[in-house]
Amino acid sequence: MGTKILGTGIYLPEKTLTNADLEAMVDTSDEWITTRTGIKERRIAKEESATDMALEASLQALRNAQVEAKDIDLVVLATLTPDKRFPSTACLLQASLGVKNLFSFDISAACSGFLYALDLADAYIKAGKVERILVVGVEKLSEIVDWEDRSTCVLFGDGAGAMVISSSQDESDVLASKMYSDGEFWNILYADKCGYIRMKGKELFKLAVRSMESVCKEVIQMAGLGTEDVDLVVPHQANIRIINSLADKLGIPKEKVFSNIERYGNTSAASIPIAFHEALSAGRIKRGDTVLLTAMGGGLTWGATLLRY
Ligand code: ACO
Repeated sequence: MGTKILGTGIYLPEKTLTNADLEAMVDTSDEWITTRTGIKERRIAKEESATDMALEASLQALRNAQVEAKDIDLVVLATLTPDKRFPSTACLLQASLGVKNLFSFDISAACSGFLYALDLADAYIKAGKVERILVVGVEKLSEIVDWEDRSTCVLFGDGAGAMVISSSQDESDVLASKMYSDGEFWNILYADKCGYIRMKGKELFKLAVRSMESVCKEVIQMAGLGTEDVDLVVPHQANIRIINSLADKLGIPKEKVFSNIERYGNTSAASIPIAFHEALSAGRIKRGDTVLLTAMGGGLTWGATLLRY
């Protein structure tokens, strides 16, 4: 039993917060933000809840997949900004989709959340337990950003991405996948008592490059391939310098690495499905391509998934 990617969709709020806007809010500059992170602007949800954004991305993914919501067996949704402590945002999304006879749950793995969700969904399909799964990454990080802390508020943005996957008799689109966590490093990136994001940027930077390099090499090897076989890397969009260092360590040229961080900043669990959808739409991914997804985030959590799209 193989896993096929049938369609993807995204939602980005209309409101844009530029580096110039941030200059008026905290002691920072466009020059500092651009050179340290690669970010020029990010989207901020105003009216939209996480569920609203997840719904729009899901409807687009279902349309592109030519699948009706009623034919979905499972919704797996990754977020660190659920609308409610409980029930899960996945259940709220199910209600918004107006469907029954399925099961839905959230995954909490911060920026690695979408890869964790995809890995689990792939396992459900390969175990023959379900046929069609809606995998979603959504974040409303603007609600948990301390807008007075210049070291974090410049980094994050809101958005959602979704993917419809299905069981198939054909060869699987998921060639290899590996996830890790190490809770000992929880205090490098976490929400404080007030719920605000706190982060040790320098340590995180080094750990991000090291852990993603290692897990990327592992999944490429698991698939019996070499880095030269990778057509495109779609990494979590945290910082352009992390992305460039990772590409250098893997020996993969920059032209084979997708980035949209300039426009959206770090959207945590939403960043990979948004980037994957945009890479597909831009023709950077074609059927038959080998695509490497990788992420690292709070937990610490990290992982990589190698696709033959
Ligand atoms: N504007 C201007 N100056 C700033 C800002 C800002 N927005 N933020 C910090 N500074 C200052 C600091 O106060 C410091 O000043 P000082 O030298 O007078 O003390 C100086 O800039 C350097 O600060 P550093 O933290 O050392 O800067 P660094 O080069 O490490 O860059 C950054 C900071 C961009 C956060 C970097 O460490 C990073 O990207 N780390 C990874 C963190 C990340 O991506 N987190 C996202 C979540 S995790 C994930 O998704 C993988």
